[in-house]
Amino acid sequence: MSADKAAPTSAPLQGRSVVVGVSGGIAAYKAAHVVRGLVASGAEVRVIPTPSSLAFVGAATWEALSHHRVLTSVFEDVEQVAHVRRGQEADLVVVVPATADLMARARMGRADDLLTATLLMAGDRALLAPAMHTEMWENPATRENVAVLRERGIRVLEPAVGRLTGPDSGPGRLPEPEAILAAVHAQLGAPRTAAQDLAGARIVITAGGTREEIDPVRYLANHSSGKQGWALAHAALARGAEVALIAANVQAQTPPGARRIDVVSAADLAAAVAEARRSCDVLIMAAAVADFTPVERSGAKIKKTEDSDAPVIALRRTEDILHASVEERAEGGGQSPAAIVGFAAETGDSSASSLELAQRKARRKGADLLVFNDVTAGVFGSESNAVQILDAQGELRAEAAGEKITVAHAVLDETRGVLAQKGWVPWDA
Ligand SMILES: Cc1cc2nc3c(=O)[nH]c(=O)nc-3n(C[C@H](O)[C@H](O)[C@H](O)COP(=O)(O)O)c2cc1C
Repeated sequence: MSADKAAPTSAPLQGRSVVVGVSGGIAAYKAAHVVRGLVASGAEVRVIPTPSSLAFVGAATWEALSHHRVLTSVFEDVEQVAHVRRGQEADLVVVVPATADLMARARMGRADDLLTATLLMAGDRALLAPAMHTEMWENPATRENVAVLRERGIRVLEPAVGRLTGPDSGPGRLPEPEAILAAVHAQLGAPRTAAQDLAGARIVITAGGTREEIDPVRYLANHSSGKQGWALAHAALARGAEVALIAANVQAQTPPGARRIDVVSAADLAAAVAEARRSCDVLIMAAAVADFTPVERSGAKIKKTEDSDAPVIALRRTEDILHASVEERAEGGGQSPAAIVGFAAETGDSSASSLELAQRKARRKGADLLVFNDVTAGVFGSESNAVQILDAQGELRAEAAGEKITVAHAVLDETRGVLAQKGWVPWDA
């Protein structure tokens, strides 16, 4: 584990009180994932479902996950005046999902159930994750309600675009639980001085998957979604770092506060990293970079004709960016970046287990840390991850599993440890 024990980063929300409001949408079941993630991060979580949401998910689920009794009405536990207490105590009230109706009532300042009353107490300490059909989301009434809530300082996340309840799709889908958790962390993490153990660190993070063009319409790509890199950026920002995110084909919104550099191919990414690594303290390479690229890109679409065979596309190796970064640092006297962290997705083969292959790779590459995950079970696009963190000798330093944000904090804990070992001092200290 990290040499620096000052920050309780495996439980980054320790001591924080979060109310999770659940309103009556079909996505209510996804709030379970958010509650679990918050509890795993150390937060004290109280769930307040609206009465109609209980038609979707029952109180037993919330009581079991939050380890607290669940109330829905202001007339329960009257001697405790629950809405006043919950609203005053909460560092944040996060509503997952926020229905059109809930937002309309919040905008009007209504207090007709325990959740809306609590929101009224919490003021701008609120974060809403809407979910509804596209027509409801785009209705001028909803647009106006959202605009007014935002003007009051309440954070209303943009819904995701995708498959809705029925066969239709469009904007209105609940943002992914990981994105909601990241937003909660960002909102609660920023003012915490105890967790600012990376304040002053300039961190470059690569994320996503590169695309190698074959012709104007086709490319070679991989399954990387960029979610782990995004989680690293959110976690690093919450810990006070200055973050540059080199994003290879990622659609997600830029984490607030990060500087974003978009790239497409492995060569673009190599050039962006070569530029960025000269002025950073930490380089974390979580992007999935193509190992091979077509020798030639056809300027015109390769045609399929009746009498031609399928084309044979010759490939060549791309630059090993992790290795090049380690080499450049060695040549430059080992100064910058102080910590270089690589990611390796492996599957075992007949000659060796995936861990053995990763250990060999760790020794070959010489990065300070190699974060290894076995992708046989499929991690791409998933909300969770399970990794082993190896050092340059291939020794196991730490293991982490769970939400990608939890894994991100574990990687940063180890990175902080490397910085501490090297006597790194923040440039603005
Ligand atoms: C099956 C079903 C799914 C629903 N899904 C949504 C939804 O995703 N978003 C939404 O705004 N309303 C949805 N509604 C309508 C709300 O449940 C309804 O507006 C209710 O009054 C919301 O109450 P609440 O905001 O107090 O929870 C749905 C209703 C049903 C019956």
